[in-house]
Amino acid sequence: MRAVRIGLDRLIEVVDVSEPRLDSGHVILRPVACGICGTDLHICQHGFPGTQYPVTPGHEFAGHVVSVGKDVTGLKEGDFVAVNPNVSCGHCEWCLENKPHLCNALTPIGVGCAGAAAELVAVPAKNAFQVRESIGHGEAALIEPLACALHAVESAGGANGVKDRRILVLGAGTMGLLITIICRHFGAAEITVVDPNPGKHAMALSVGVDRALTPGQLGDGERFEVIFEAAGAIPALRQALRHIRKTGLLVQVGVHEVATKVDVLPFTIYDHELRIVGSNSLANQFPAAVDLMHDVAGQAAKLIGDTYSVWDFKTAVQAMAGGTAIKTQLRFD
Ligand SMILES: NC(=O)c1ccc[n+]([C@@H]2O[C@H](COP(=O)([O-])OP(=O)(O)OC[C@H]3O[C@@H](n4cnc5c(N)ncnc54)[C@H](O)[C@@H]3O)[C@@H](O)[C@H]2O)c1
Ligand SMILES: [Zn+2]
Ligand SMILES: [Zn+2]
Repeated sequence: MRAVRIGLDRLIEVVDVSEPRLDSGHVILRPVACGICGTDLHICQHGFPGTQYPVTPGHEFAGHVVSVGKDVTGLKEGDFVAVNPNVSCGHCEWCLENKPHLCNALTPIGVGCAGAAAELVAVPAKNAFQVRESIGHGEAALIEPLACALHAVESAGGANGVKDRRILVLGAGTMGLLITIICRHFGAAEITVVDPNPGKHAMALSVGVDRALTPGQLGDGERFEVIFEAAGAIPALRQALRHIRKTGLLVQVGVHEVATKVDVLPFTIYDHELRIVGSNSLANQFPAAVDLMHDVAGQAAKLIGDTYSVWDFKTAVQAMAGGTAIKTQLRFD
């Protein structure tokens, strides 16, 4: 079968490979839609922790079950599923605490093992969740980033944490806008999104933010109860720290370089009783994100920009790196 392959030398090729083996407890899928994100860019450019080169990318995907391995219950040929790409060991201390995303032996599909940019992909049956196909293929492939955004909102207390509150979201990319859609759905009082790229503001407004601003347009004295740093940029984190209200909560969603440091004022953390929490990946939120996508698909679909044939993966990645699209996806026809 054909598959996209990124080599250790970062060369992107379409190659012929053998079909995936059907292990016990696994299913083989024929993907129909797959998103690409910053993680794929890192894999193609300077490397992403845990990547097993050569690798077939693709971790935000949905598809049809084409064969079912031994000991699989609840899935059959033809079922339409979205996939949680985080394959966890099931028995380390983090798995036993129901925090599979922190698993000591985490192997993300499309990073640590073969992903969906191929004719077929094998996944553990426990990672495949049935979805109503009527929500749309692209929307189903957005469930993975929606689950990450949901984990971020849950890290802020979920519906109780954001309902009736003033929210600031830094970054109007996929993460920031999915977080926005969820906060709106959960009844946030007012959502402000900050992004230095004014080209992103119209989309932010169309998914329901109250104000879309550049960093300089945010008033010095404004304070927010809940802030999401969803930019992965140091100026965004500094701005977040300046605008938290007393007792407020900052959720760190953006991924920074491992060794990056930022000054914080411990006196202010103490005096203002600030809370700063990290949100890493999708935790155990995939099933909840499947349900949520059935409610917010109309809004989430607005984020889907250009789609490319999976065999044009290289062009898709290059276009994404330079463009203003929110979510670029691959199609498999
Ligand atoms: N925690 C998680 O589970 C998780 C999941 C996916 C992505 N991420 C990370 O979240 C961040 C955002 O991901 P994305 O896919 O939305 O990326 P993206 O590139 O689509 O969006 C990032 C946005 O941040 C904006 N930005 C840059 N500097 C800014 C600033 N100073 N203030 C406000 N906005 C600024 C950019 O203009 C861009 O629109 C990245 O760091 C990514 O690695 C985290
Ligand atoms: Zn991703
Ligand atoms: Zn584990």
